[in-house]
Amino acid sequence: MSVTLAFDVYGTLIDTRGVVGLLEGWMGDLAEDFSQCWREKQLEYAFRRALMRHYADFSVCTREALDHTCLRFDQPLTDEQKNELMAFYRKLPVYEDVPEALRALKLEGYRLYAFSNGSRRSVAGLLEHAGIADCFHGIVSVEEQRSFKPDPGVYSYFLREAKVLNHSSWLISGNPFDVIGAISAGMNGA
Ligand code: 2OP
Repeated sequence: MSVTLAFDVYGTLIDTRGVVGLLEGWMGDLAEDFSQCWREKQLEYAFRRALMRHYADFSVCTREALDHTCLRFDQPLTDEQKNELMAFYRKLPVYEDVPEALRALKLEGYRLYAFSNGSRRSVAGLLEHAGIADCFHGIVSVEEQRSFKPDPGVYSYFLREAKVLNHSSWLISGNPFDVIGAISAGMNGA
């Protein structure tokens, strides 16, 4: 029986630090720390929304985290600049080694899925833009569950959607909380 690999998207296939170049033009050396704070807040807002059972699209967490980060770093970006960043977020770059690795895994017979906090539409756009959409058997978004990782419900939802058992599926993520969440919910994780 083939093994299913659920690839996390932001921070695993797609580089959220891709915004640094754009930010550098506006805030110079602050860009790196600003980008890191933005990402951390985005995830924190998703955790909090999941706990509060107050779901909103992941892009809402992203935008609210951007507003927070502007205040925290005393960088009053205009609405236009914020919209430009949000638009850029839909076209973030793929990590360099990802396309070749995915193609090799697919050739080996693994069933690959993209599994993300992002909406199906955002994830499909990112994979398309990165030229890797054809590597995947499907996309599973938490949006149908109206919660976020690491709620165990979203990992169970993945297993149901991909029609696989937990012992024959792996969550692959560059985000440690995601790997821990998947293992805690009974999947394998790396
Ligand atoms: C994702 O679900 C955790 O942001 C990460 O794509």
